[in-house]
Amino acid sequence: MEKVELGWDEFWAEIFRVRHRRAIQGIEQYDKLVVAFIIEVFTLKKGNEILDIACGAGDHSIEFAKRGLKVTAFDIAQSLIDVAKKRAKDEKVEVNFYTGDMRDMSFESQFKAAVMLSHSFGFFNHEENKRVLMGAFHALKDDGCLLLDLMNPYNLPKFQKTWTQLEGGFLLNEPHVLDAHAGVLTGRPAMFFDMEEDRIVLMDQDALSNNDIRMYTALEIREMLEEIGFSKVEFYGQHILPRLPYAANSERMVVIAHR
Ligand SMILES: C[S@@+](CC[C@H](N)C(=O)[O-])C[C@H]1O[C@@H](n2cnc3c(N)ncnc32)[C@H](O)[C@@H]1O
Repeated sequence: MEKVELGWDEFWAEIFRVRHRRAIQGIEQYDKLVVAFIIEVFTLKKGNEILDIACGAGDHSIEFAKRGLKVTAFDIAQSLIDVAKKRAKDEKVEVNFYTGDMRDMSFESQFKAAVMLSHSFGFFNHEENKRVLMGAFHALKDDGCLLLDLMNPYNLPKFQKTWTQLEGGFLLNEPHVLDAHAGVLTGRPAMFFDMEEDRIVLMDQDALSNNDIRMYTALEIREMLEEIGFSKVEFYGQHILPRLPYAANSERMVVIAHR
């Protein structure tokens, strides 16, 4: 089999965010539960504006739109925005899609809520991560709230080597590794056995290094958010109802910050 290396956008966006996500059993139902949690926690009403930062293939954005919210969805990967636009059209909902870098968002006092789902925070160095939070702060109205849905740094999933059957082939995932000194979860190398093209698709160096995630603790996140100007910061232990308090053994660390 021929081996090819693909960069971050091609490998991550198409193989991971689209094919891999769609192969997860029950994911659509799960997305609905996450959206229901956010609507309840933020007491969102039909017509309220929400910003989905790093929206990926738009699965949550489309679900918010189906519930009557005015959704703006933002991602750096044009290929994902294209997939999301097509799905929104098929589902007959309206979503404003933007392609851009979350470090350079320029929304001003527009949204009642902003969300970053499936651990879409911490991809950059500390200053840049703070800049993302600042962009979210400015995007919110005075009574707006931000939600970060993060893995719990004190209770990371037990990452394992996995084989998954996807449309057109098989994905082999190596486990993530936590660099305890840097507090960074390193990108997990993955390989796609593309049976349609009869080739093995590998991640190039850019794809691998662009996949690292800084794992902040609750204390660190609170400090960053308060420095930026958020007034009240709360934590929950899961991103579905019922609301569970955050603890060391929680499944997730869900951060809610009020502007
Ligand atoms: C973990 S995925 C989450 C996608 C989606 N929120 C979900 O729950 O399925 C992270 C997303 O962040 C996007 N992303 C990465 N770097 C970005 C950047 N600098 N600006 C905007 N989006 C970015 C990726 O394209 C990817 O869609």
